[in-house]
Amino acid sequence: MLSLVAVIALSCQRTPKVEMITISNHNGMSATFTNYGARITSLIVPASDGTFKDVVWGYDTVEEYYDSNDLYCGPIVGRYGNRIGKGRFVLDGKEYFLTINDGENHLHGGSGGLSTKVWNMEKLSDREVKMSILSPDGEEGYPGNVEITVYYTLNYDNSFDIKYEAVTDAPTIINLTSHAYFNLHGTSKYSTNSHILRINASHFTPTDEGLIPTGEIASVGGTPLDFRVPTAIGERIDEVSFEPIAFAGGYDHNWVLDKEREFSLAAEVFEPSTGIVMQVWSDQPGLQFYSGNFMDGKDIGRGGDIHGYRTGIALETQNYPDAPNHPDFPSPVLRPGEVYKQLTRYSFSLNAF
Ligand code: GAL
Repeated sequence: MLSLVAVIALSCQRTPKVEMITISNHNGMSATFTNYGARITSLIVPASDGTFKDVVWGYDTVEEYYDSNDLYCGPIVGRYGNRIGKGRFVLDGKEYFLTINDGENHLHGGSGGLSTKVWNMEKLSDREVKMSILSPDGEEGYPGNVEITVYYTLNYDNSFDIKYEAVTDAPTIINLTSHAYFNLHGTSKYSTNSHILRINASHFTPTDEGLIPTGEIASVGGTPLDFRVPTAIGERIDEVSFEPIAFAGGYDHNWVLDKEREFSLAAEVFEPSTGIVMQVWSDQPGLQFYSGNFMDGKDIGRGGDIHGYRTGIALETQNYPDAPNHPDFPSPVLRPGEVYKQLTRYSFSLNAF
């Protein structure tokens, strides 16, 4: 249950000032955040030639993030990350209607979702930042006053943790994820098609043309979505004879992780030219891998880098898309007295797999 203090704070809350904070570890790895969307704006990691590379998309100024809301460049997305078909769902017999912002569907919490809000931001130590927000009952159509906290931590072993917690005062649904775009070249001048990817998943959730799951859990075996053996992203990305690739214009699918709900290695990515390896560890049941198929090159990022077609990948650990409308999918329901918890770890090294 939300405390009375929290609900009073919710009704009195003022918009905090938009700021940026940098944290670092003793290896020279650093991360920068802004509280606009609880967003990661920079993540600097060692490369094999002894230099450091910024492996996430970002802009030179915080103002530029306001104009890029549709790209979701680095924020926490929610309350429900990913899509909900026709923006409707039924919970405890009551029908709810969410903002429609993606064709006829609801995407990433709606046009005024968490990625567009100014969060409270606090530097807890040289290596840790806390973001928090109270999302009021009815925001973008979601029920319940929900108190959300996200902790970003840089560890000494060059891993980067995102820890989420949320509580509600009424039954609701929730699915939070980070929408950082990674490019292990350290610049979006080069395509992410050269990255070698492995995903620990034998199944995925096929969708319709609007990327809403049909409800089927299909095998990846013999398809371009089989990344159980490390494969370059670009190798099969245009195999449009496989309908799911045609619908998404490349990769934009939810992989059903083999070790559901157990903190484990979900995926790893390697860029041969920089030697950078990124592992993704998570306790979530799904991984949305988006290969940047909607990018049109009109968006200009840090230092003039063009955010072009397939120059950034998102690896979003989360529940399955449209889970509120599929009783067979893992439940996204959060009730008063329960705590939503999630841990995702992006771990960096130079040890190719
Ligand atoms: C991804 C989603 C894509 C696209 C993108 C934002 O998470 O899977 O379909 O909507 O966000 O452009």
